[in-house]
Amino acid sequence: MKLPVLEIGALKPKYPIIQGGMAVRISTAPLAAAVANAGGIGIIAASGMGIDELKRQIRWARENSDGIIGINIMFAVSKFAQIVNTALEEGIDLIIQGAGFSRDIFKWCTEAKVPLVPIVSTAKLAKLSEVLGASALVVEGKEAGGHLGTLESMRHIVPLVKNAVSIPVVAAGGIIDALDMKEAFDLGADGVQMGIRFAASTESNAAPNLKEVYVRAKREDIVLIDSPVGLPGRAIRNEFSEKINTDYDLSPENCVSCLKKCKQNFCIMDALENAQKGNLEKGLIFSGEYIEKINEILPAGEIIRKLVEDFKKL
Ligand SMILES: Cc1cc2nc3c(=O)[nH]c(=O)nc-3n(C[C@H](O)[C@H](O)[C@H](O)COP(=O)(O)O)c2cc1C
Repeated sequence: MKLPVLEIGALKPKYPIIQGGMAVRISTAPLAAAVANAGGIGIIAASGMGIDELKRQIRWARENSDGIIGINIMFAVSKFAQIVNTALEEGIDLIIQGAGFSRDIFKWCTEAKVPLVPIVSTAKLAKLSEVLGASALVVEGKEAGGHLGTLESMRHIVPLVKNAVSIPVVAAGGIIDALDMKEAFDLGADGVQMGIRFAASTESNAAPNLKEVYVRAKREDIVLIDSPVGLPGRAIRNEFSEKINTDYDLSPENCVSCLKKCKQNFCIMDALENAQKGNLEKGLIFSGEYIEKINEILPAGEIIRKLVEDFKKL
């Protein structure tokens, strides 16, 4: 089978594969560069990063790749505007925006002539995004790792969005192998965004013991938690997720107001950072629902090569 061609504004990756942005510091410059070098779109997760850190990340990725590099930013973070503007000043190729909806970012990206790709979970928000100037959409379903904008399946939402808009639609949530990609394309998607498959890669910035958890995790280990952002989140069950789900008091002692609005049931940045560093008892391990299909850590380039090769055989 032939892969579809994904065009986002003037950007045309060799393969219609976007590596999902994964905060905090799971998808940093080395992963984004490796994915971009292999013909996909590499994404640096900017949420939780400082401004100078983000500049260094973008510059590192640029020095190590001629491919397409973007950032992912959650609307919920306090430094949202600063982060977007820094990425635009650094000449980022595209911005993917999730966890909330901002009208301002459309204006900023249009002025900078940088494609904006909002993450949506309804046809209504998809249409509004197109009217406001989105270049493409990521349509994320309940199967996805991290914060969820819906509890509906990607399989249900993608055809609805595809019928509602004429810009490219990228399916996200539960896409691990070539068969999953085929299913997404059959539903009308023009591309796929994959998170946890790339979190479990050599270049991912997850600590080695976190990568071991990814490889061992089974479907029944996957849980939903109530994130301080005000959205449900999909994660791997561990001591910390059990504490969140049993109303154990995890309210933060030191708060740096990193979110515009925070429920303060626990500190999401600390919890994600702990997981990334391998401090797993105090870490929240975000993961997609289909992690069970991942049995080994592979270089990102190898993951893409295998996806393309397997897809061609279907
Ligand atoms: C560890 C982890 C962190 C994530 N962080 C973010 C994030 O910062 N912003 C965002 O929009 N999506 C985030 N996501 C969602 C991914 O970008 C991607 O859309 C999703 O994981 C797709 O589902 P999959 O993991 O089943 O492939 C995260 C996912 C994971 C697994």
